[in-house]
Amino acid sequence: MIRPHGADALDPRFVSDSNSRTALLAEAQTLPSIVLNSAAAANAVMLGGGYFTPLKGFMNLADAMSVTTDMKTGDGLFWPVPILNVTDNIDGIRGAKRIALRDPNVIGNPVLAVMDVAGIEEISDEQLDTMTAKVFGTLDMGHPGVSVFRGLGRYCIAGDIQVLNFSYFEEEFSGTFKTAVKIREEIGERGWEKVVAFQTRNPMHLAHEELCRMAKERLNADGIVIHMLLGRLKAGDIPASVRDACIRKMVDVYFPENTVMVNGYGFDMLYAGPREALLHAVFRQNMGATHLIVGRDHAGVGSFYGPFDAQAIFDELPAGSLDIEIFAADHTAWSKKLNRVVMMSEVEDHTPEDYVFLSGTKVREMLGQGIAPPAEFSRPEVAQILMDYYQLEDRQAAVGE
Ligand code: ADX
Repeated sequence: MIRPHGADALDPRFVSDSNSRTALLAEAQTLPSIVLNSAAAANAVMLGGGYFTPLKGFMNLADAMSVTTDMKTGDGLFWPVPILNVTDNIDGIRGAKRIALRDPNVIGNPVLAVMDVAGIEEISDEQLDTMTAKVFGTLDMGHPGVSVFRGLGRYCIAGDIQVLNFSYFEEEFSGTFKTAVKIREEIGERGWEKVVAFQTRNPMHLAHEELCRMAKERLNADGIVIHMLLGRLKAGDIPASVRDACIRKMVDVYFPENTVMVNGYGFDMLYAGPREALLHAVFRQNMGATHLIVGRDHAGVGSFYGPFDAQAIFDELPAGSLDIEIFAADHTAWSKKLNRVVMMSEVEDHTPEDYVFLSGTKVREMLGQGIAPPAEFSRPEVAQILMDYYQLEDRQAAVGE
């Protein structure tokens, strides 16, 4: 099986022994604490699940800046995005060596993790600008990832953590939320060697489905892990529970048994395009995938990135940065001429009119009116789940819920 990133074994920061967890929870009640922001909580959940191996906790400013500019920590480990616990208020934890980290996304803010504080540093305006520009490729506050990142605060709390639970993910997405440890185990049990991971934050339409099928066939892979984002998205994106239902239905009906695993991870979307694609690759290697599908505008938003920037960035990496490889896919769409989904660069004599293209806005409009997108765009079973969701949303909006 593929090695975890920069390590021989995964290092999940979740404390799996329940007695130790109980003891840590009791200790946490005696410690100074802070309520994390959602981005930091998501980092803790990823660290807990082994996805961010070999990191043991949150980066200090030197590592964060080194990752920002050179995509390496101070120790020379390839890492594409700073993993930070940033806050705007450190009054309650000044001088503390050990603190409790509380969960912002669960009522009552229970303790999510305990942290050994290695240092608290103030991030300068210049450093904040450099991080934003390098990671997101823009300083534009209209970018949803940038506006979240710039609102987090300016104190960087660094140090190793011990994670005590997986926030709301385990309960809300039981059966779908999985740690990297668990997925790696399941891949091993299935005896899969060559494994393709598919990142998604959407319900899967036909182009996505075919992309998975093409990748599996062309790579001669043993299986596909559809690995959906379960954390926070921007307004207007479809909730994870609805996407989960669509994807499960599509896999049940249209893929042979035992060829696809449907799983999810608890992380907030950054919309950081190329840099996020690299992070996606790191944590898919950790969960045991040998390949990650990177298609058109992977992890992008609006027109902030070129459609294939997220593929190109992999070509620029120094050799040995990652073991996982990408399956670089061209734009896929239904060809009316050939009656199948194609990669657009692979067919000749096609004009834009020969494809079925629908914008996200158009699809939402249709679904809201109870009109199913054409079968060339969406499977009818998937369209039905989406229509039910959009119509319920409209009814709730009408009664002011
Ligand atoms: S993402 O933000 O999670 O990347 P999305 O769920 O839309 O968004 O995409 C999942 C994966 O499918 C990404 O690798 C993306 O590049 C790819 N993809 C989505 N639609 C297409 C398409 N029509 N053609 C090629 N690749 C696509």
